[in-house]
Amino acid sequence: MNESRPASMSSFWMPFTNNRDFKANPRLLVSAEGMYYKDVDGNTVLDGTAGLWCVPCGHAQPKIVAAVREMVGQLDFAPTFQMGHPAAFDLAEKLMDYTGHRFGHVFYTNSGSEAVDTALKMALAYHRARGEAGRTRLIGRERGYHGVGFGGISVGGIGGNRRTFGPLLPGVDHLPHTHNLEKNAYSRGEPEHGANLADELERIVALHDASTIAAVIVEPVAGSTGVLIPPKGYLKRLRELCTKHGILLIFDEVITGFGRLTTPFAFDYFDVIPDMVTAAKGLTNGMVPMGAVFTQQHIHDAFMDGPAGIELFHGYTYSGHPLACAAALATLEVFEEQKILDNAKAVQEYWTDAVHSLKGLPHVIDIRTIGLVAGIELAPIDGKPGARAFSAFKKAFADGVLIRTTGDIIALSPPLVLEKKHIDELFGKLATILKNLD
Ligand SMILES: Cc1ncc(COP(=O)(O)O)c(C=O)c1O
Repeated sequence: MNESRPASMSSFWMPFTNNRDFKANPRLLVSAEGMYYKDVDGNTVLDGTAGLWCVPCGHAQPKIVAAVREMVGQLDFAPTFQMGHPAAFDLAEKLMDYTGHRFGHVFYTNSGSEAVDTALKMALAYHRARGEAGRTRLIGRERGYHGVGFGGISVGGIGGNRRTFGPLLPGVDHLPHTHNLEKNAYSRGEPEHGANLADELERIVALHDASTIAAVIVEPVAGSTGVLIPPKGYLKRLRELCTKHGILLIFDEVITGFGRLTTPFAFDYFDVIPDMVTAAKGLTNGMVPMGAVFTQQHIHDAFMDGPAGIELFHGYTYSGHPLACAAALATLEVFEEQKILDNAKAVQEYWTDAVHSLKGLPHVIDIRTIGLVAGIELAPIDGKPGARAFSAFKKAFADGVLIRTTGDIIALSPPLVLEKKHIDELFGKLATILKNLD
């Protein structure tokens, strides 16, 4: 393995990165195993974020590594347009089991962004197939993150991700976000206040008429915008209103899928079943890019009842790539054999207590937790939004822990295989950093 620094870092245009700042003082990872990364200087770095929310079973999980190795030697690539390979079909059946058969079908993509755009396109085509072609409006939510495709940024609600890329999709509206520090600060699990914000959908329906609205898309727990947890009853209310008005409900479970809340999906946790679910990340334990859209039977039926021929003019060259299928099949086995969800449940209370023990430290203005997710909100430095949390991120990396920040919020989402000793290490170091932060 080449563990030396790259000869030049100028050509790689890094995503979602302050390139000039990074290249002046880079953070380079060269290997990973279990709960830890190793950096280019040989330091170990505890992974408090499962990479980018995508490694529930821990890094370099041996069974998944072996499955990918075996597949690459056997079938490097096979198309899934008018062709197929067994692992893609086997995986689909296993995924239906994993969803508890609440969904009938799965469509493969290569990322969360592609899963979102696929689900949005399916929603439009579904209504058209059923003779309701006027349902073209898409409803997202303020502060929502649905990846970076044009569909995803149109329904997304993070200003910085949208404002330089217009014009975006027409006919999009947004629900208000549910974040309310005055009423819900320091909540454990679902906050008490805000279920009524789902009723804003009635306002949007009154404005545009239900017959023009195709779908509502929300993250059950918003991650990238800084861990926004739905108020008690909010998602149930949203489900009721969508059903009442014939609007499809899409849950974007790209981060909540595959155990993040200690249940297989967030829809299990909240007991609210949407019409479609988007997933990615943990699906392959982050090892090979893959995304997916799970659809209820009635969505699929609307296409299969149509005229003979190709039912959906959509797909990606790498939809159902053999390596991704091998990684996902092995990931599902590891979830079962290693009882990944049981471990997540076993440490959840210890995790929650440890996060909330940071209350009262300098700059901390809120702490919110659900499953194995935590958001720690810091007061911003005047005139420099995001600078305080980013400085914590840099100090943490230097001290051997990987955290993630968005604005002035620290978001934590460790691999689900973590143990109490990792929780002690993570919060011991984080407490010291917060105590010494400007
Ligand atoms: C909720 C949600 N949707 C979509 C995406 C986009 O996924 P990707 O980066 O794989 O395109 C993300 C990524 O963090 C996400 O958190």
